[in-house]
Amino acid sequence: MKLHDVMPLLGFGTYGRWNEEGVEAILAALEIGYRHLDTAQTYDTESQVGTALQRSGLARSDVFLTTKISTENYGAGKLIPSLETSLGKLDVEQVDLTLLHWPSPNGAQPLGEYLEPLLEAQDRGLTRFIGVSNFTIALLEEARSIAGEGRISNNQIELNPFIQNKKLAQYCVEHDILVTCYQPIAHGHLGEDAVLVEMAKRYSVSPEQLALAFELAKGYAAIPTSGKVERIRSNFAAQQLILAPEDIALIETRDRNLRAIAPDWGPDWD
Ligand SMILES: NC(=O)c1ccc[n+]([C@@H]2O[C@H](COP(=O)([O-])OP(=O)(O)OC[C@H]3O[C@@H](n4cnc5c(N)ncnc54)[C@H](OP(=O)(O)O)[C@@H]3O)[C@@H](O)[C@H]2O)c1
Repeated sequence: MKLHDVMPLLGFGTYGRWNEEGVEAILAALEIGYRHLDTAQTYDTESQVGTALQRSGLARSDVFLTTKISTENYGAGKLIPSLETSLGKLDVEQVDLTLLHWPSPNGAQPLGEYLEPLLEAQDRGLTRFIGVSNFTIALLEEARSIAGEGRISNNQIELNPFIQNKKLAQYCVEHDILVTCYQPIAHGHLGEDAVLVEMAKRYSVSPEQLALAFELAKGYAAIPTSGKVERIRSNFAAQQLILAPEDIALIETRDRNLRAIAPDWGPDWD
């Protein structure tokens, strides 16, 4: 079974969905039809996801759950217990996808030290699929050589019309690693681009819907978030939008390599 076959490509991001308001936004997303929720140990939203899932009345098997291991939990003896804590907060036996949230800050820990326990977590059935986030081509090469062919099934990276990460995304596509776009709507800033605004008007959609339709057309997954029901709904509706090939090509020209998330301890980007 491949990740591409089971992960709904449009998911709901949960960064910032805190407290009861957060639970309500996640629940609204489930009611609107999202069947993929993205959380992380550092977001402090795993319990909100668990509560919303419970309240929705949906079966566990109906919703694809992703969490990410914090770099603080890297290493033998730490990673698996931290994932067990995440399962407790989510109130599930198993997550669908577990990612290494970032490469070890400043490369301080060798990759094997924190990838091996993730492989073990998958072998023990704590997670169906495993993957990485914010990994460069060099790190993916290393991860694939440690893990063996076919085990690293996802790389979650910053990707939207302003930062298209073309080289890295191409590498992932070539090696059957599903790309998930975070900040897929550039945090609501797409309306600053006159070309996108004009195209959105032509299709009678929002620039955010344009971006999401573009990412899905490229075969990527995308995980926008919002605290507002109308936006949660309109982002979801982007799945209905089919863009003409010439418009996909025009969106490709809007790439400005405008990276919003680049901590100084992060990797040297491709
Ligand atoms: N792996 C990683 O390192 C990493 C890093 C960052 C994010 N992520 C994941 O990716 C998810 C999404 O990224 P993100 O939250 O940074 O950015 P995003 O989804 O691109 O943007 C969210 C922002 O855009 C606004 N927004 C939402 N829908 C909108 C619409 N239709 N029109 C205009 N504005 C809209 C939201 O404000 P309102 O709430 O006011 O609507 C919010 O401020 C996160 O929740 C998280 O799950 C992962």
